[in-house]
Amino acid sequence: MLKKAGHTVTVYPKDAIILRAELLKGVRGAHAILSMLTNRIDEAVLRTAGPQLKIVANYAVGFDNIDLAAAKKRGVFVTNTPDVLTDSVAVFTYTLMLAIAKRIAEADRFVRSGKYRGWGPKLLLGAATLGRTVGIVGAGRIGSTVAQLTKGGLGMKIVYTDVKRNREFEATTGATFKTLTTLLKVSDYVTLHVPLLQSTHHLIGTKQFKTMKKTAFFINTARGPIVDEKALVQALKTKRIAGAAIDVYENEPKLTPGLAKLENVILTPHIASAGLETRQRMSELAATNILQALAGKKPKNLVSY
Ligand code: GLV
Ligand code: GLV
Repeated sequence: MLKKAGHTVTVYPKDAIILRAELLKGVRGAHAILSMLTNRIDEAVLRTAGPQLKIVANYAVGFDNIDLAAAKKRGVFVTNTPDVLTDSVAVFTYTLMLAIAKRIAEADRFVRSGKYRGWGPKLLLGAATLGRTVGIVGAGRIGSTVAQLTKGGLGMKIVYTDVKRNREFEATTGATFKTLTTLLKVSDYVTLHVPLLQSTHHLIGTKQFKTMKKTAFFINTARGPIVDEKALVQALKTKRIAGAAIDVYENEPKLTPGLAKLENVILTPHIASAGLETRQRMSELAATNILQALAGKKPKNLVSY
């Protein structure tokens, strides 16, 4: 799309995370940057790009990798890719919820490692899901879709918390608003759908895991640093909670020592939005935002700040 519009496009040639030095070199003189969530776009990157830079189009719905204040100061637009990945992330979250309840990954490891010696009444017992309570932390687009899937598919009761009440969400899902503490107390499944902000950093830590039911499961497809990962490892190790399914990590791609040794956790490599069609739509949206900005218009998916 960008080339067709007559723009010169430089694409990082390797299928790997761009090293900082290469990023700084690559952005020099650019009018637009199409960034990945693994690229930290800060004042140094914006300055190195130069005063002609019009837009940073992030290829993600999250934008915690971008210094919004620095961009604003320079009059650079920042855009994200909302809506097009909502369904992928919500269905992935729903899948993780069922997979951890039914111990799918653990069972697969069990069979592969040759431990399966025959059926037994107590073999790999899973947890019930039908009619249980799911706590949605963040009732935005993704949280709302997770609520619809869990209510429609499993008849779950929905409780939620957010910075403000969402009446439409309550009306469509029958959800009831709770404080985070009450939500953690009553939920059988807790799933995070808030952005990473200063106010949500380590929102979930030792105290919050202690508040949860011992039989509860925790799912994170949002951002790693919302959770104190050391506290998560401790909660899983001591069986303070029943299990967790984690797609994002505090220091991606590094894991807190001990996490990968635990059986009661599913670990996936930040792939909740990784659908072929979804990724195509994300590309198109990022390119559209760039085309709009370079044409002197306000881009469609301007991040509000
Ligand atoms: C993925 O994590 C995204 O924010 O799009
Ligand atoms: C039953 O197996 C359930 O998940 O509720």
